[in-house]
Amino acid sequence: MSEKVRLGFVGCGGIAVAHLKALAKNPYAEIAAFCDINLERAKTVASQYGAAGATVYSRSEEMFRNTSLDAVYICLPPFAHGAEFEAIDRGIPFFVEKPVNLYFEQAREIAAAVERKRVLTSVGYMNRYRSGVQKVKEILRQDPPILVLGGWIGQTPRLTPEAAIYSWWVVKEKSGGQFHEQVTHTVDLVRFMCGEITEVQAYPAKGFNKNVSPNYNIEDASVVNIKLANGAVGSLWASCSANGGGGGVSLSIYAGRTTALFTGWEHSLRLLQAGVEPEEIPGEPNIFEIEDNAFIDAVRLKDPSKILCPYTDGLRTLTVTLAANQSMMSGEPVKIPFK
Ligand SMILES: NC(=O)c1ccc[n+]([C@@H]2O[C@H](COP(=O)([O-])OP(=O)(O)OC[C@H]3O[C@@H](n4cnc5c(N)ncnc54)[C@H](O)[C@@H]3O)[C@@H](O)[C@H]2O)c1
Repeated sequence: MSEKVRLGFVGCGGIAVAHLKALAKNPYAEIAAFCDINLERAKTVASQYGAAGATVYSRSEEMFRNTSLDAVYICLPPFAHGAEFEAIDRGIPFFVEKPVNLYFEQAREIAAAVERKRVLTSVGYMNRYRSGVQKVKEILRQDPPILVLGGWIGQTPRLTPEAAIYSWWVVKEKSGGQFHEQVTHTVDLVRFMCGEITEVQAYPAKGFNKNVSPNYNIEDASVVNIKLANGAVGSLWASCSANGGGGGVSLSIYAGRTTALFTGWEHSLRLLQAGVEPEEIPGEPNIFEIEDNAFIDAVRLKDPSKILCPYTDGLRTLTVTLAANQSMMSGEPVKIPFK
């Protein structure tokens, strides 16, 4: 490998640009190829973030065939995965955005192929890299969690041309719904800090949001009750119907002597411990840089030890949100792993 890590991007939408901005500050990263089914989008992004001679493609097979790459970013909507196989076949490390898929079987095949070929991977659960999250994870080893509450509450998506994401986000068969697509961050943090989730029971609310788009068929809100392996319980929620304001992102973990209150997209922490002064740990604003630097270093040094969410771990988080979707349909509790 040359001194720089030559990167390709599959999917050049919103989150790809967030990573490209972060990678622009990394002296070891060079963006050599861009792929998007919307070729104009790939060209625009390439002109802003591409290295000299960067190539653009509308099909990922062509990108992999024609460009020599050290690693790939896969920034696709949940329903559009599969490019992972191209990377794995060639032994190319990849970073993939959360949730890793919409289809459990495909994700399981990707995970199996990753293991077989020993490909280095990283999943975009960037909140794992936050210092507040890591501190709470350590504390909870000694003081186990008992109750967990959290989720994402926001407004109804407005389908402006700039908000292209919502064309798939509001379609259940494409995004998997808000719990699967967005609250996946909270589910992943619960798993990371508190241990495995063993059972879910979910309730959807539908029929309140009118005239969003003819395709809108996701839940207006959902509540997912969870059981954890250590015996703790919790409730996680999603709403994209709170147009009066308030809401936001939150995760509260209550243990015997510790209360961890995370708030905001940046997951700022207020840490309360019995007999100790309260502590505030602001969330890092440059979290994509931190996450991307860990991936680039891992590829460069061929050392995955600083990657906090490899593909197999992202697959376990996927299992929980897909189980919640199954429970929303059946009304029954679903044990994990689910069938
Ligand atoms: N980590 C985070 O905080 C975070 C934030 C936003 C989005 N995401 C995740 O990133 C993923 C992408 O979201 P986004 O906001 O970038 O969506 P987006 O709609 O802005 O971009 C997706 C891009 O992928 C392209 N695309 C679709 N199918 C393709 C294919 N088969 N080959 C090549 N290109 C294809 C689309 O044309 C589009 O340009 C989603 O899974 C989302 O959940 C993560």
